[in-house]
Amino acid sequence: MTLLEGSVGVEDLVLLEPLEEASLLKNLQLRYENKEVYTYIGSVLVSVNPYQQLPIYGPEVIAKYQDCTFYELKPHIYALANVAYQSLRFRDRDQCILITGESGAGKTEASKLVMSYVAAVCGQGEQVDSVKEQLLQSNPVLEAFGNAKTIRNNNSSRFGKYMDIEFDFKGSPLGGVITNYLLEKSRVVKQLKGERNFHIFYQLLAGADAQLLKALKLKRDISGYAYLSQEVSRVDGMDDASNFKAVQSAMTVIGFSEEEIRWVLEVTALVLKLGNVELSDEFQANGTPASGIRDGRGVQEIEKMVGLNAKELERALCSRTMETAKEKVVTALNVIQAQYARDALAKNIYSRLFNWIVNRINESIKVGTGEKKVVMGVLDIYGFEILEDNSFEQFVINYCNEKLQQVFIELTLKEEQEEYKREGIPWKKVDYFDNGIICNLIEHNQQGILAMLDEECLRPGVVSDSTFLAKLNQLFSKHSHYESKVTQNAQRRYDHTMGLSCFRICHYAGKVTYNVNSFIDKNNDLLFRDLSQAMWKAKHPLLHSLFPEGDPKQASLKRPPTAGAQFKSSVAILMKNLYSKNPNYIRCIKPNEHQQRGQFSWELVATQARYLGLLENVRVRRAGYAFRQAYRSFLERYRLLSRSTWPHWNGGDREGVEKIMGELTTCTSEEVTFGKTKIFIKSPKTLFYLEEQRRLKIHQLATLIQKIYRGWRCRTHYQQMRKSQILISSWFRGNMQKKRYGKMKASVLLIQAFVRGWKARKNYRKYFRSGAALTVAGFIYKSLAQKFLLGLKNNLPSTNILDKNWPAAPYKYFNTANRELQQLFHQWKCKKFRDQLSPKQIEILREKLCASELFKGKKAAYPQSVPIPFRGDYIGLQGNPKLQKLTSREEGPVLMAETVRKVNRGNGKTSSRILLLTKRHVILTDAKKSQAKTVIGLESVARVSVTSFKDGLFCLHLSEISSVGSKGDFLLVSEHVVELLTKTYRAVLDTTQKKLPITISEQFSVRFKENNVAVKVIQGPRGDGNGKLSCKKKGSHSLEVTV
Ligand SMILES: Nc1ncnc2c1ncn2[C@@H]1O[C@H](COP(=O)(O)OP(=O)(O)OP(=O)(O)O)[C@@H](O)[C@H]1O
Ligand SMILES: [Mg+2]
Repeated sequence: MTLLEGSVGVEDLVLLEPLEEASLLKNLQLRYENKEVYTYIGSVLVSVNPYQQLPIYGPEVIAKYQDCTFYELKPHIYALANVAYQSLRFRDRDQCILITGESGAGKTEASKLVMSYVAAVCGQGEQVDSVKEQLLQSNPVLEAFGNAKTIRNNNSSRFGKYMDIEFDFKGSPLGGVITNYLLEKSRVVKQLKGERNFHIFYQLLAGADAQLLKALKLKRDISGYAYLSQEVSRVDGMDDASNFKAVQSAMTVIGFSEEEIRWVLEVTALVLKLGNVELSDEFQANGTPASGIRDGRGVQEIEKMVGLNAKELERALCSRTMETAKEKVVTALNVIQAQYARDALAKNIYSRLFNWIVNRINESIKVGTGEKKVVMGVLDIYGFEILEDNSFEQFVINYCNEKLQQVFIELTLKEEQEEYKREGIPWKKVDYFDNGIICNLIEHNQQGILAMLDEECLRPGVVSDSTFLAKLNQLFSKHSHYESKVTQNAQRRYDHTMGLSCFRICHYAGKVTYNVNSFIDKNNDLLFRDLSQAMWKAKHPLLHSLFPEGDPKQASLKRPPTAGAQFKSSVAILMKNLYSKNPNYIRCIKPNEHQQRGQFSWELVATQARYLGLLENVRVRRAGYAFRQAYRSFLERYRLLSRSTWPHWNGGDREGVEKIMGELTTCTSEEVTFGKTKIFIKSPKTLFYLEEQRRLKIHQLATLIQKIYRGWRCRTHYQQMRKSQILISSWFRGNMQKKRYGKMKASVLLIQAFVRGWKARKNYRKYFRSGAALTVAGFIYKSLAQKFLLGLKNNLPSTNILDKNWPAAPYKYFNTANRELQQLFHQWKCKKFRDQLSPKQIEILREKLCASELFKGKKAAYPQSVPIPFRGDYIGLQGNPKLQKLTSREEGPVLMAETVRKVNRGNGKTSSRILLLTKRHVILTDAKKSQAKTVIGLESVARVSVTSFKDGLFCLHLSEISSVGSKGDFLLVSEHVVELLTKTYRAVLDTTQKKLPITISEQFSVRFKENNVAVKVIQGPRGDGNGKLSCKKKGSHSLEVTV
């Protein structure tokens, strides 16, 4: 907090030491000189007009103050506006902001700052923004018509303004109501030296384009208008022309129609023109003075513009109709009276126009009934005025300020004291001035100054301001707050400042002397009926509507309420309004009379400080408690600060509050007092500390709630997503499977259809035309084959195996089958033949088969041997006992007995020998001898060589180890060489299980004893084998045989 640290002087005058006027002013001056224009007295804001643009306003500063509590930042009007707005929004309490101060102290600027702050921080949206805009734009319009340059303020509000801004429960503005008080209408016809008329006249003349001026029948030159001060037509820093444009657009924004804007300008122009209506002396026939309009041009223009009959106007201005119950008397007015009437008319038109504008704005910004709303009232009203010559206006203004002071006193002091008493809290009595007595002096219903004035105005007989004063002197001769020359004289006091026509009131702020001159007139505020009736007759809709009392049908003899009575009642309404709201004070101070920056006039500020009762204000603040609240609502608000009371508290409200405060270490016992129903907190610091703690706690709680909520939201969102995902995937899967199934089904159906089709086709193929040919062909084939086979059966060839005949196939395509059949038949024939053979024949055939295997195609002698059966015995062995004897020891029968020729080894000559072949031996014997010449074991026969010719030469090659082998191989010639060698082969196979190698060659080597002889066989010229065989020895190793 910057309550003390780093501040210029003290920021809160409550902390001022010593507490006296001088130190207070010094503090204000110090701060002012350091451009610190705002200072607090507790929650009251004191604002000193800087008369310069300080860089302490704008959106950034607003944002800063928006987030802070009252004491956190430097004193500022934004802080006060923030407190009021927050309290309105979060505590639902109607607020009022009372801005008081002298003319030029900065009230209007302050009210605009408050409004702009609220506009910046409250809600947004199309609707809200348009309401805000309307509320803000009401300022330039009201300022144009209600403000004027005075010697004290270039933009002085010449009316009092109270504006209620209404908000909905969210704190967004819904609209509002503006109440205006006591427009200084005398300014319309006359201004003091150095002052101007209302801004709008100058703005209109400077800003309207030529066309508009022409339509309004105006000239741009200000000097042409009697009501406009010639002296000061321009104000420094104020651009009338551009302000006129701003006013026009503001009116449009607020909702004025184009026609309405035109009406307003026409009536404004009418006022100017009225000022130019010159009146001249005239005399009636009886010589009494009368008056008339000097130059008819002005009224004719008026007639054209607002449809006001010129004659009618003249009559209304220059004569007066007195109406009694019985008769009507018309009196002519002299020039002075007529001028008075004209000015009264101009003032009335203007003030009624101003009221109409305010009402029109209210119509645009009014809030519909039924909406629950909270209200923030902003009161910008003239401050206490003490002029050199104080008149009726100052009297009512000061009366109003007196009442406002009373509000202040009642709300802050009296209430406070009474409350302490109620709550049983000891109270150190503070002396304060209760201005009830002064208010009473002015407003008392029977015996107040205003009541006296009214009485005087209504009294029949001669009435004047002095009779009024005399009445006051008489009534208040003993009143402590009233004095006049008469009362002073009675007390034998001499006071040269007191005039004869004056009275003085000791206001709370100081003594003010009022001059009673024109009090009666101003209070009467009467407009002659002739004038209002003339205005009512005007064709101009707005002008017409401004004077409803001009309607002859409504004409009543009853007087309208006096200005004083009206003001009193509107002040009463205002007070009632303020009492119902939570007040926030802004005390504006003007630092100097010259509207100069940086100048601090001690005297001037001292007077204002006194008027505003600042010192008293500080004293009360110091003595009392800055803040109090009922236990229940306090507990409700702060119970979240203590663990014992949050979240549940079952004890009493007071105990709860004590618990909370007990836990706050910063709170001393002097700081906090517990009343009967309320807690009292001495300094705002503690409250703001509490608020800050609460703000932090709420932040934490909000974060917690947010956390839980977000968690919950995410969880539910996730679960939803999960559910959805499951649903989607189940649908998707289902769909996919359905599709797959559909596909499969379609495929199965297709396959099925194909298979069924195929089956059906298969079954029905026979019935197909395309199959008929095959069937027919098959049938034909079958019958042809049948025919062929049956034919074959009946015409089989002979079963002779040598008969190779076989019928040819009747068709080509039976060829293969026919060949097969032929072969089968042949094999069958052979089998049949074989089956009928005896074993002996079989043996013979086997021999023949063996011979064929050995020699067929190899030896030329073989073909001759085939048809001749193998006899084996060619020498008649049965009839030869010698030879039988020779073989008697042999195992088994003699296989071959033949006469062969043996080629002699020595000379090559041949000699005859009988060859006997048994199962084991080859026996060679001499035909004449009965003894075996040579016996060769079959196992010793290694191989046999034979020629390919027809000859019977063959060579038995013996193995070298055989006993007969020593003599060498045998070269023999047989006539049955094929049979002999076949039988030898078979015998060797039987005996030794070996196949005897038979070499068919024309050259072979023969071993004779130790020598090898190469035998070369040559075919003889005959070559049939039956020729003589001759051997020719060629050397010892070569033998040439010719066969
Ligand atoms: N906060 C401010 N910053 C700068 N200038 C200011 C400020 N307040 C007031 N002023 C100046 O002082 C002038 C007078 O202020 P303002 O019109 O608000 O006074 P007032 O109290 O409304 O007077 P009146 O009672 O005559 O209407 C303004 O025109 C402006 O120039
Ligand atoms: Mg003002």
